[in-house]
Amino acid sequence: MQQPDISFMSVVKIGDKRFEPFITSGRIQAVVKKLTASINLKYSGKDPVFVAVLNGSFIFASDLLKQFKGNCQISFVKVASYSGSKRNSRISPLIGLNEQLKGRHVIILEDIIDTGNTLKHVHSAVKKARPASIAVASLFFKHRVYKKSIKIDHCGIKIPDHFIIGYGLDYNGYGRNLRSVYKLKTND
Ligand code: IMP
Ligand code: MG
Repeated sequence: MQQPDISFMSVVKIGDKRFEPFITSGRIQAVVKKLTASINLKYSGKDPVFVAVLNGSFIFASDLLKQFKGNCQISFVKVASYSGSKRNSRISPLIGLNEQLKGRHVIILEDIIDTGNTLKHVHSAVKKARPASIAVASLFFKHRVYKKSIKIDHCGIKIPDHFIIGYGLDYNGYGRNLRSVYKLKTND
């Protein structure tokens, strides 16, 4: 059992930006537990491969995997679509898809789905490898910004169009180590 995050009440300053408390680590842990429970039910005995999208999903993937029951593998892939806190539509090629995915049950793990560009990119690369099935699990989902039609099978927390940091998510590389999640203050 993790200790409560006692620093949650304070504002976090990174460079020129200030972030305010948004989602507690306790709520995140509860959501990850619930997501993993539904994945455990669906993939019992199926030996799935998780494809986790770096960098943001490393903490989510780690917490989720520790609660997955049964055999599974994980592959970490990397793409990038954000620069600072502004959207950037250019997406670099996918690197790191090492596991053999043909005929396997694949679960794509995302920290956050925003426009869905990254997901589309990863999904297409996975599909090319002809897996038995592909599902998507994302901890956070900016559902009002999402522009794609790929189904989010396991969705943790739907959020409005805020820029958030913490629990793996960053602003210019900072903030990933925060246990709770903070949102960008827009009025100062
Ligand atoms: P998309 O391609 O627009 O869906 O953006 C997805 C990627 O952008 C995520 O995997 C994150 O790495 C990053 N991202 C999107 N929204 C945020 C945010 O609010 N904070 C930090 N990173 C974000
Ligand atoms: Mg990501």
